Amino acid sequence: MSKPRVFVTRRLLEPAMKMVLESCHADLWSNEMPPPHEIILERVCGVDGLLCLLTDRIDTEVMDAAGSGLKVISNCAVGMDNLDVAAATSRGIPVCNTPGVLTDATADFTFALLIAAARRVVEGERQVRSGTWKTWSLDTLLGADFTSATLGLVGFGRIGKAVARRATGFGMRIIYSDPNPASPEPGVEAAHVDFDTLLRESDFVSLHTPLTNETRGLMNAAAFAKMKPTSVLVNTSRGPVVDQTALYEALKSQRIFAAALDVTVPEPLPIDNPLLTLKNCIIVPHIASASWQARQKMSMMAAENLIAGLKGERLPNCVNPEVYRIWNKSMG
Ligand code: DGY
Repeated sequence: MSKPRVFVTRRLLEPAMKMVLESCHADLWSNEMPPPHEIILERVCGVDGLLCLLTDRIDTEVMDAAGSGLKVISNCAVGMDNLDVAAATSRGIPVCNTPGVLTDATADFTFALLIAAARRVVEGERQVRSGTWKTWSLDTLLGADFTSATLGLVGFGRIGKAVARRATGFGMRIIYSDPNPASPEPGVEAAHVDFDTLLRESDFVSLHTPLTNETRGLMNAAAFAKMKPTSVLVNTSRGPVVDQTALYEALKSQRIFAAALDVTVPEPLPIDNPLLTLKNCIIVPHIASASWQARQKMSMMAAENLIAGLKGERLPNCVNPEVYRIWNKSMG
């Protein structure tokens, strides 16, 4: 029997790549840069499966170009905003992501950013490198304290909860806002509050929400106006959740103390972007999940999801399980 045809938009980490190459007839885009949209449209023609990254826009055009044989779309990311899931559902195509395996790596990195921004790590490092640090003094690069400070988590899913676990160890008070309030884990105290209360009471605001119509531009000028002038914002979710022009104004005018962004619009941020002129803004290249284990597990999960979908099996991490009801109905 011939192997299923798949388009893989970037090289996965091993051993996942080997697994895909062995079980499929794979067209692998192995360039460093993502395939342009026109190339995706060309390369998906007639494939059985598509394995893509968060850098690929997978829309109706792509699904139409692939044709009716497309059995599965496996996204190697937990965030799904690059992919039109509703369009896939209406075509009966199961779509899967990589939840869970990057939770700890992302929560660890969120803390790295919280501390780096609050304690001015990058500013200090730049002073040492440039020779502008003169001597130890009592008021050099003073920053925010963690013990007893309030951490506001916007979004209390897997990653939000993992950040809460870490914050518990730092002796912080934790509050969160989420449209679906969830109970914290044993040993973690976190109170559900509305978004405005969170902004008003938090010393640290950390974003862990998916990008949706409701969360796009959530952190806008009105939101920054409610925050404490000593507060720190960290974004490891998606760039468009923050209105970057409003953030620039808030940081420049010291409406808030500092920010650290793992994600921006666009990625990479052009080097002439005003945010990059600010000392109180740290920007890193979307690496919150970039630990060896997390990225290896993401690769493996994406490969396993793809192969399960090609076999017609129920996907282990399906984000649109309603497709199976549609399948069952049409078979029954
Ligand atoms: C994801 O998987 O959505 C993350 O943004 C990767 O870091």
